Amino acid sequence: MAIYPGSFDPPTKGHLDLIARGSRIFDELVVAILRNPDKTPLFSVEERKEMIELLTSGYKNVRVDTFEGLTVDYATSVRATAVLRGIRAISDYEYELQMALMNRKLQPSLETVFMMPAEHYSYVSSRLVREIAAMGGPVGALVPGLIEQRLRAKFKNTSPAKRSRSKATALPSRRGKKRSTQL
Ligand code: PNS
Repeated sequence: MAIYPGSFDPPTKGHLDLIARGSRIFDELVVAILRNPDKTPLFSVEERKEMIELLTSGYKNVRVDTFEGLTVDYATSVRATAVLRGIRAISDYEYELQMALMNRKLQPSLETVFMMPAEHYSYVSSRLVREIAAMGGPVGALVPGLIEQRLRAKFKNTSPAKRSRSKATALPSRRGKKRSTQL
């Protein structure tokens, strides 16, 4: 059994691609959304959970959960033996390697498994999706239709000027902060 931890704010087609791949190699896959008190998300944890549940309802071996604190502690609590993470490009590698090795230090029996999403999603990130959607740009190629609708609803009463100053869209992802090249 594996967990696929992340922020998923919002879930993208890249995330969905990874869930599809993960569901084929693990008997059970838990998509685990981090409750991060340090971040102001665009979508609440509950909204993200509901959206991912709807998007993964066709997979018998995928479920969605939320967690607080360390990923290794959550993994232990659900008896997961692996952590699934996606690597889109070499710019992801350094941070992912650091996180995988730190997680191994904290919990040696937990393996991190990296998978590559389809190459046509290699430039897709939740941060860019938030930014484009906030400015009224097209995100249909980057996120499932359901997420596109939810993004439109989120920003429908916001003027483009206000959107560009919005805290939720201005925040870089935790992953992005550590990288020199932001995808
Ligand atoms: O989707 P993201 O933002 O790249 O996911 C990052 C996430 C949630 C996997 C990472 O920040 C994480 O594991 N956070 C939980 C706290 C923790 O375990 N920190 C130590 C990591 S070595």
